[in-house]
Amino acid sequence: MAFLIVAMLALGKFMVNLDQTDPLRFTLTQWHKTTGVLILLLAVGRLVWRVTHTSPPHPTGAPAWERLASSVSHVVLYALLFIAPITGWMMVSVSPLNIDTLLFNVVPWPHIPWLENIADKHTAESLYKSWHEIATGVLIALLLVHIAAALKHHLIDKDTVLTRMLPSREARTAKTFVHLILALVLGVGVTVFAYATLQYSAAANFSAGNSAVQATAMVSGDETQISFPESTVTATINPDDLANSALNATVHTGSVTSENAQVQGSLPDADWFNSESHPTAMFESSSMEMDDQGQILVRGTLTIKGIDQVQTFVMRIDDTQSNSTGKKSASGEFTVDRTDYQLGLESQPDPTWVGNEVIIRFEFELTE
Ligand code: HEM
Repeated sequence: MAFLIVAMLALGKFMVNLDQTDPLRFTLTQWHKTTGVLILLLAVGRLVWRVTHTSPPHPTGAPAWERLASSVSHVVLYALLFIAPITGWMMVSVSPLNIDTLLFNVVPWPHIPWLENIADKHTAESLYKSWHEIATGVLIALLLVHIAAALKHHLIDKDTVLTRMLPSREARTAKTFVHLILALVLGVGVTVFAYATLQYSAAANFSAGNSAVQATAMVSGDETQISFPESTVTATINPDDLANSALNATVHTGSVTSENAQVQGSLPDADWFNSESHPTAMFESSSMEMDDQGQILVRGTLTIKGIDQVQTFVMRIDDTQSNSTGKKSASGEFTVDRTDYQLGLESQPDPTWVGNEVIIRFEFELTE
């Protein structure tokens, strides 16, 4: 559990720093949810064990303040073993994106039923998100204290507090084993952080005017990512003068890629995007306005296969995702029904294998 939790803390911090449209962020978040639920289930087992067994006594001669600090921090650690995953579960249960949790990509895990019907999902999501961030932040702080205390017992007090945490009776006396475990934990930790830092600096370094358009659809029960590497966005956006702001995006349908090779192979076909006759799909805004929550609401026409449909979505102007040159970016997402655009009506008329709902996400840099 300790290894899973440390890995989850590193993974969580890493993935939230990735670009919203990066498919890696989506994939990692799905694995994060699986591991988080696993930790929650293990925590239940652990709590049952703890209340049915007597815990080892404090080392003899430990001062009263140390006993108190140890007991309090253990209670808080146990509480966080539940609070951290439950707040994560609450967050995904109210997410307006409504992305299912499939443990190990196979076993469906429900949303919390009484939270699913909450009216203002955006506000609830950001509230639970901040709870999850605070809970995991406290967990990080407490783990550091916990590790420091265990090391103090082992290296300074030279008692058995650290060694008795180890799994087997034999291990309590095997010093080399202790050192091996410490080296292993340290090695894995350093590797995860080095990898995370490398990936993060690579992810943050995208070039000026870059745009990314992605779609997510359910294919055979799996959330499948589709990317359009060739896209062009032209935009004039002034939050203070939305009446004169505009957004146009063109996507080359033939450039489509997917992690699912079968999907990638079929999408340019006549039944899907029909890239030969319709090499581009386009979005052209007709109006932008500020809604009553202070968000930019964009309305416009999305044309796929020559079919026009009006779409409305919230566009976010984001400073936090700015790249190393300090440029702002804009992003948004909306859901379309593929049958409205006659996509796959011949080969997949039924949503069982390929869902009708397709989430489209986009992001582009704003140069001032
Ligand atoms: C002990 C278990 C868990 C730990 C230690 C953990 C840790 C973290 C951390 C450190 C973050 C980054 C927070 C930030 O800085 O914003 C994060 C984000 C996240 N966690 Fe967890 N988590 C756990 C369980 C879960 C569970 C069970 C779920 C859902 C079922 C979940 C869903 C998420 C999601 C969706 C995000 C990303 C939010 C975003 O995209 O902004 N987590 N987690």
